[in-house]
Amino acid sequence: MKKISIRTAFHWTCFIGLSVFVAITFYTVQRDYLEMARMENISGKIIIFAATGFFDVPITSSALRKCSGSLKDSCAITSHWEHYPKARAVVFHSRDIDQNSLLTFPFVRRSEIPYVMMASESPYYAQMAEYKNYFNWTMTYRKDSDVFGPYGGLVKNNQTATVNYTSIWESKTKDVLWLVSNNIHVNNRRKEVVDKLKQLGMNIDLYGQVYNNEPADCPRYGAMEECEEKLQKPYKFTIAFENSNCKDYVTEKFWNKAGRYQMVPIVMERKIYRDLGVRV
Ligand SMILES: *[C@@H]1O[C@H](CO)[C@@H](O)[C@H](O)[C@H]1NC(C)=O
Ligand SMILES: *[C@@H]1O[C@H](CO)[C@@H](O)[C@H](O)[C@H]1NC(C)=O
Ligand SMILES: *[C@@H]1O[C@H](CO)[C@@H](O)[C@H](O)[C@H]1NC(C)=O
Ligand SMILES: *[C@@H]1O[C@H](CO)[C@@H](O)[C@H](O)[C@H]1NC(C)=O
Repeated sequence: MKKISIRTAFHWTCFIGLSVFVAITFYTVQRDYLEMARMENISGKIIIFAATGFFDVPITSSALRKCSGSLKDSCAITSHWEHYPKARAVVFHSRDIDQNSLLTFPFVRRSEIPYVMMASESPYYAQMAEYKNYFNWTMTYRKDSDVFGPYGGLVKNNQTATVNYTSIWESKTKDVLWLVSNNIHVNNRRKEVVDKLKQLGMNIDLYGQVYNNEPADCPRYGAMEECEEKLQKPYKFTIAFENSNCKDYVTEKFWNKAGRYQMVPIVMERKIYRDLGVRV
């Protein structure tokens, strides 16, 4: 028999210990959410039943917190089975289901209410296996979805905005930023395009795991707002290439980052943005 070194054994013990810890924590968190969902006073409200989480995070009524008062007060989102018989719609997030989990969905289908497929990613990454005649509605970033759920949008301001372009211009000391996630092998080959632009002389600062250059004090997750601002605001332009060139697929890269830090976004295909009413 092969000998197992103490170190290997120790590693495995740690690994198993850690896995158990993670599993217990996850279970506890899930249970607390379910308990909260059960306790929520949903009487008189329009109930949307969340059959899955959103990337494993439970979907609850707190998802409505940015909605207008009347909507917030008249709707509830819950994932507690007790509420299923009263639901007016059932929502599934595409990345949290597969055909197996649909087969094991523990309740009898209520065909009088719509089953809704929610997809936040583009078709390349939404993991939409073939669900033949299963879903009634779609809820995605696409304008032609039954329920349009974009990442962002333009809203007309009631007051005339006063913008001091001189001071914005003076604060811009750097040229182009590309802050990329670790997702390199994407279908539209955005990295190759950026590398080529840089090679052709565009002054792009490249940050991210792909380039072995993660901003030290500004990690991808859990970064402080101030550090993001300090890192990004000095740039005139930001590369806002999505991981897929798809109709209406415009994410927070464009809506949040470019807008918040007053950078001009550089995008791959103008047509997609024109369709969203953005001036290009
Ligand atoms: C639940 O909400 C309804 C309607 O808003 C209210 O009449 C009722 O008293 C509430 N029940 C509890 C237990 O808070
Ligand atoms: C939803 O689709 C299923 C399967 O095609 C169908 O049986 C059901 O009547 C539909 N329900 C609604 C509300 O559209
Ligand atoms: C703009 O003004 C209209 C009419 O006064 C009001 O109904 C609307 O809520 C306002 N919108 C914003 C974003 O403040
Ligand atoms: C705009 O910003 C510049 C530079 O910061 C400043 O000199 C100027 O007074 C500002 N103009 C207004 C109208 O505030």
